Amino acid sequence: MDDSFNNKQIPLAQNGSFFTGHLNDFQKNPLHFMQNLTSEYGSIVRFRLGPLHKVILLSDPELIKEVLVTKQKSFIKSKDVQSLKALVGEGLLTSEKEVHMQQRRLIQPAFKKTHINLYAQDMIDITEKYIGKWNDGMETEVTEDMLDITLGIISKTMFSMDFKEGHERLGDSVENGMKLAIKRMRSIIPLPLWIPSKTNREFKQVTQALDEVLFSIIGNRRQEDSPKEDLLGILMAAREENHGTGMTDQQLRDELMTIFLAGHETTANALSWTLYLLSQHPEVEEKLHKEIDSIIGTETLNPEHFQMLTYTQNVIWESLRLYPPAYVIGRQVDEDVEIGGFLFKKGETVFMSQYVIHRQADHFEEPDTFKPERFENNFMKTLPTYAYFPFGGGPRVCIGNHFAFMEMVLVLACIARRYRLLLSPNHKIIKPQPLITLRPKPGLKMRLEKRNSET
Ligand code: HEM
Repeated sequence: MDDSFNNKQIPLAQNGSFFTGHLNDFQKNPLHFMQNLTSEYGSIVRFRLGPLHKVILLSDPELIKEVLVTKQKSFIKSKDVQSLKALVGEGLLTSEKEVHMQQRRLIQPAFKKTHINLYAQDMIDITEKYIGKWNDGMETEVTEDMLDITLGIISKTMFSMDFKEGHERLGDSVENGMKLAIKRMRSIIPLPLWIPSKTNREFKQVTQALDEVLFSIIGNRRQEDSPKEDLLGILMAAREENHGTGMTDQQLRDELMTIFLAGHETTANALSWTLYLLSQHPEVEEKLHKEIDSIIGTETLNPEHFQMLTYTQNVIWESLRLYPPAYVIGRQVDEDVEIGGFLFKKGETVFMSQYVIHRQADHFEEPDTFKPERFENNFMKTLPTYAYFPFGGGPRVCIGNHFAFMEMVLVLACIARRYRLLLSPNHKIIKPQPLITLRPKPGLKMRLEKRNSET
């Protein structure tokens, strides 16, 4: 590394405990902790999580760009993400360097806009069928509903499995796998998997159950003569340009597991937050209904409506701003590197929090207010690139970003066309709970009110 740069000092957060640093404050409420540090110290600050774990919190879009794009080669995924390898192996989310680049090249075509358009009808059909069992006046747990719908969508688009089969074969194992993975991520030092602790034994059982399902799906597919057009079909047909080799069963298993893990809960939480925000902002809800009614009218909702539903799209962008399901991106410094005149040392962790940055007044007027109109007139183009980044950025940007965005807009349009959702009376105060993704806590019990505009 060039050592001629002006090595500026990174401010050190005060008042941490001698031994654990700021671990307690961080664990108690990571969102407030990161927000408070940023307002106290500005765009860069260093703190400790435990005796040796040094973390740099970045809140300046320019510096974030250096980490995610310009100097991304000097970083790898942070330790918490690495611990997910126990569940997702060497899939896109967790693999590094050459392996990651090769897999990304193979998988990218499956997520092109042209392919994703093919899945739009499934997204609509699954949602329509699901809400077909809702009734006027019914109370429902919306966070569960959204998980069910997004699990149904990913099972169909990935494996051509119908809703029931997807839930029966994958639903519980995925949920359990996630819960245990979170437990591993949150423990300061996860026990190696060969130690037969209770959690480790459960973890092994869940991964074995998932492996059985996934390998049997892959094995059956290998026997079929004509390829299917679902995500698995595209992944199986993908060939490396230079040597023409495709993915092994193990690689396919890891990628399927990764896409499941990365793609189902994030989208479900974003939808739950959106429905919550709409219930708190009737004026936004009314505008949304107006747009949906005037564009869809008496027709059935179809994939072409997606482009036209611009206010609905802005409602989703604004919801992702206030409650980004991926609320922090973590990296580990892989070699000493200079970022914005500061020295980042090998082994240190870097956090970049969308939750914090999306609520900064420098870029967003009235940052805590839900105002989808702010996204009108190409507002995003006027922002510095990493002032708004719900899907991350650089070579590791979310591969499912177009898929997720289309899914959220279409699911929301299906629901809002038929129902208003009102928070149940006496609902406890809803707070963001930062697990792997940002969830509404303690869930979201809502009452359904059928709309007259229903066709
Ligand atoms: C609202 C929904 C979603 C949000 C907010 C979201 C957010 C993100 C973010 C921030 C990253 C980058 C993480 C990092 O740089 O460390 C990421 C990566 C990823 N996402 Fe998403 N995601 C969403 C939906 C999806 C969907 C639907 C899929 C798949 C169908 C998906 C698959 C992935 C994969 C495979 C990666 C790893 C990409 C790589 O490293 O090359 N995500 N996502």
